[in-house]
Amino acid sequence: MKKVGFIGMGMMGAPMALNLHKAGFDVTVYNRSKERLQPLKEKGLTVAETLVDVVKEKDVVITMLSNDEAVKEVVTGDNGIIEYIEAPTILVDMSTVSPDTSIFLAGVAKEMGVTMIDAPVSGSSNAAENGTLVILGGGDKQVFESIGDVFRAMGKTTLYFGENGSGSKAKLVINLMLGITMQGISESLVLAEKFFLDRGLVLEMMQQAAVASPFLGFKKDSLLREEYPAAFALKHMHKDLGLILGQARENGSVLPATSAAYQSYTAAMNHQMEDMDMAAVFSELLQQSGVEKK
Ligand SMILES: NC(=O)c1ccc[n+]([C@@H]2O[C@H](COP(=O)([O-])OP(=O)(O)OC[C@H]3O[C@@H](n4cnc5c(N)ncnc54)[C@H](OP(=O)(O)O)[C@@H]3O)[C@@H](O)[C@H]2O)c1
Repeated sequence: MKKVGFIGMGMMGAPMALNLHKAGFDVTVYNRSKERLQPLKEKGLTVAETLVDVVKEKDVVITMLSNDEAVKEVVTGDNGIIEYIEAPTILVDMSTVSPDTSIFLAGVAKEMGVTMIDAPVSGSSNAAENGTLVILGGGDKQVFESIGDVFRAMGKTTLYFGENGSGSKAKLVINLMLGITMQGISESLVLAEKFFLDRGLVLEMMQQAAVASPFLGFKKDSLLREEYPAAFALKHMHKDLGLILGQARENGSVLPATSAAYQSYTAAMNHQMEDMDMAAVFSELLQQSGVEKK
């Protein structure tokens, strides 16, 4: 079985690495904060103390980190892994980052003789745990397909979009829909509060109507109770909408609803909701509308 080095044991990376381990891959994990490594060590995964150890002599090295800055720091920063990775090791970034970052990193890797793939994922931490992520690929097609077994251990579907950066572009496309959907559900619920309709009944109506979605099913309990344990942290949704609007400015896309949603998530960030689930944007809109928490 392939040897996999996995960097970033956050909400997504840890269950993804665990699924690789369960599928029989030889997995070595690394995380900047060491306390996140102990539970994985107890489950039988090999823990690397240094970035050098997590990348050396691996078939595949995966990064699953917060944002563009984190991935750039880990890959090309001081002591970055690009100095230690040697072909034929394949570098795969599964974080949600700007397509420009994916293209930049793939270029740096290529100069060092290493192939890099962007393979961000759609699906929350529950999908990461269940191995039902949707994996969105950019980069060399043959290389992408050669590690299909690695992707299948973490996801239910892999979709190949084209050259480097295409996976990251696809990820922004799907997260635009996600961010606006949450904003739309929240606005409907705010109006319902102002009409003094029963929130549970309104959520039931939404689930029976044509606009019903699995996503609403995942979020309805949080919305009902106004409790937001993070499955997808609001700060990441905010980051993604920022990336989307940055790309839209460059390519001339007109995205008014995205801009409006971004304002709501920004306001929620300013009210210390960054580590709550993205659904907390509902509470932000309730507060702005003068509705007290029940
Ligand atoms: N959660 C979701 O539902 C979801 C779904 C799809 C995609 N994503 C995307 O997947 C990525 C990871 O999300 P997540 O929810 O797993 O995030 P998370 O729980 O916040 O974990 C972030 C990880 O990045 C590491 N990190 C951050 N900055 C770093 C740096 N400068 N150097 C080294 N390591 C650094 C953190 O290490 P420490 O532990 O040391 O802080 C942690 O391991 C994000 O790009 C997110 O947008 C998330």
